[in-house]
Amino acid sequence: MYKLLQPLNTNKIKLKNRLIMPPMATSKPDNYGKVTKELLDYYDEKSKDGYFSAVIIEHSFISPDGRAKIGQLSIADDDVIEGISHLANTIHSNGSKAIMQINHAGSGAKKEAVKNEVVAPSAIVHPDNDVVPRELTMREIEEIIKQFASAASRVKKAGFDGVEIHSCHGYLLNQFLSPLSNKRTDEYGGDIYKRIKMHIEVVKAVRAAVGDEFPILLRLAGSDYMDGGITIEDSIVAAAELEKAGVDFFDISGGFCKYTLPIFTSQGFFSNLSEQIKKSVSIPVILTGGVTDIIAAENILNEGKADLIGVGRAVLKDSLWAKKAIESLK
Ligand SMILES: Cc1cc2nc3c(=O)[nH]c(=O)nc-3n(C[C@H](O)[C@H](O)[C@H](O)COP(=O)(O)O)c2cc1C
Repeated sequence: MYKLLQPLNTNKIKLKNRLIMPPMATSKPDNYGKVTKELLDYYDEKSKDGYFSAVIIEHSFISPDGRAKIGQLSIADDDVIEGISHLANTIHSNGSKAIMQINHAGSGAKKEAVKNEVVAPSAIVHPDNDVVPRELTMREIEEIIKQFASAASRVKKAGFDGVEIHSCHGYLLNQFLSPLSNKRTDEYGGDIYKRIKMHIEVVKAVRAAVGDEFPILLRLAGSDYMDGGITIEDSIVAAAELEKAGVDFFDISGGFCKYTLPIFTSQGFFSNLSEQIKKSVSIPVILTGGVTDIIAAENILNEGKADLIGVGRAVLKDSLWAKKAIESLK
């Protein structure tokens, strides 16, 4: 039997196969970040007939100052719970588990998208932005940790099966992790253990908010692919510490500015990262990036480079991709 068709059951979640729809921002929420009919229709179409074991909803902002851009989904206050519960229902009624990604954009936020100021670990301009962010105070860091926890508890209240913390693609937690954007001299900056202090605190606060049984995923940047940025050696240390803190699944991606670079051409282009992280942890690892061919995905699983495979752009292009791929294996 194909490994892709085999279930993956943990004591917190039962996944019927190894295929995941990864988070992909749609710009379909309204200007306040609320769920729209267009967004529900989109997820209904993409998750039709439940060929993915789980669908991870696009990144949602945890606070008005953590909003990447207008049109991003909100998880920033209790008013959104009802709307996002329809997202969870849509995915459940098609037969898949529903997970939601929560995020703070930090210096990756557009100036017009935030309520107050663009903030970051250090006052360093994001390579994809044009605003000098203000360095966060320790009190503000504590506040953001609480916002992650409140956001996660909304995700749970809305009926989702898990929450994913975003620490990739140059957003706030990636900025804390990366020596390129974190020049702090307090306890949140310095060696890798200090650069993941915030992550550990976020994971623990989220755990306290959602309880022991609720799955916490963390999208971890395996490498920034930039000189002076994080390397796989850093990420291996980070992964081990984050597993101890309570993460249940890692979702491996990379790239400080983009999840794609011209050098990323192969099927599963982060598989060298996920393979090394998988070897150093005992929880399941999701790999996303470049997969368009189901047999390539099967090979990645059989080579022990990941436990689950995410397929994004192929599904954006063709909503029937997962159906055709899974049916071709039967
Ligand atoms: C339009 C678009 C939006 C994306 N939005 C997110 C996002 O909200 N959160 C995230 O972690 N990754 C996001 N990604 C990255 C994807 O989850 C995925 O990692 C990337 O597209 C590479 O996988 P693929 O080659 O299968 O598409 C986005 C990608 C695309 C194409």
